[in-house]
Amino acid sequence: MTQTMIGVIGGSGLYEIEGLRDAQWQRVETPWGAPSDAIRTGTLDGVPIAFLPRHGRGHVHSPTTVPYRANIDALKRLGVTEVVSLSACGSFREEMAPGDFVIVDQFIDRTFQRDKSFFGTGCVAHVSVAHPTCPRLGAACRDAAEAEGITVHDGGTYLVMEGPQFSSVAESKLYREVWGCDVIGMTNMPEAKLAREAELCYASVAMITDYDSWHPDHGAVDINDIIRTLTGNADKGRGLVRRLPDLLGPDRTPCPHGCDRALAFAILTAPD
Ligand code: ADE
Repeated sequence: MTQTMIGVIGGSGLYEIEGLRDAQWQRVETPWGAPSDAIRTGTLDGVPIAFLPRHGRGHVHSPTTVPYRANIDALKRLGVTEVVSLSACGSFREEMAPGDFVIVDQFIDRTFQRDKSFFGTGCVAHVSVAHPTCPRLGAACRDAAEAEGITVHDGGTYLVMEGPQFSSVAESKLYREVWGCDVIGMTNMPEAKLAREAELCYASVAMITDYDSWHPDHGAVDINDIIRTLTGNADKGRGLVRRLPDLLGPDRTPCPHGCDRALAFAILTAPD
C-alpha cells in the first residue's frame, strides 16, 4: 500500500485551486528544465495534492511551448501517484455540448513540435499506450463529475492538434466524420505518453467550450463564447477536484491496469 497523491494539471482558465490546507507554491527543478510554473501543494481532506497550471499563471506557455517533460517529472518528484489532466476542448458531437465534460479514453496524436519521451539517449524504451488513460482514475473523475451535477460523457477520443491556430472546416470534418473523433484540444499529448513512461496513472477530463468549426449552426470557433464557457467550466473543474480525495482515499493499492508498472511491460534497452 502506498499513499495517494493527486496531481492536477489545470488547463486554460484554471490557474489556481482553493481550499488546500497548508498550501504553498513550490518551485521544482528537473533535468528537463523548469515546469510551467511553481506547483501549489497542500492537502484536501487529508490527501496530498499538487496543482500545476499547465500554461503557467498569466498563460505564458502556448500548447507547443508547455514543458511537458518537466511538468510530469516535477509531479513525479513530489510523489504524485495519480495525474488528473483538466483541459479545454472543442466538440465534434452534437450531444457533447459546451459546458459538458468528457472522460477521454483514447487519443489521436497529431502534434509534431514537442519532445515526446524521457528516453532516447543511451536508454531506449517503448511503452504501450494502447490504453493511454487509467480506467480506475477515469472512473473516479466520472463519479466526481456526476456528484457535482456536471453532464459528463464516459469515454471519448480526443484529437490532439499542434495549434496554436484552430482547425479549418475541412480538418474539423475530417476528424469528426472520417476519423470518428469526439473532441479536439492542443495539450493532452505528449502529456499522457509521458505520464505512462513515468508510471503514473493519468486521466483526462476534457471540458467542452465550443463545437470547433464543423457545426452548421455555430460557424467558426468564437473566442468570446469560449471565454464565457471557460469560466463556468473552471468552477466545475474545481468542484470535481474537491470530490476526488474522498473517492480515491488516502491509501493507494497498486493500479489494477498496471499504469504504475508500465516499464515492466516495455521494451527497454540497458542504459550506457
Ligand atoms: N480548445 C478549446 N476549443 C478548442 C478547439 N475547438 N480546438 C482545439 N483546441 C481547443
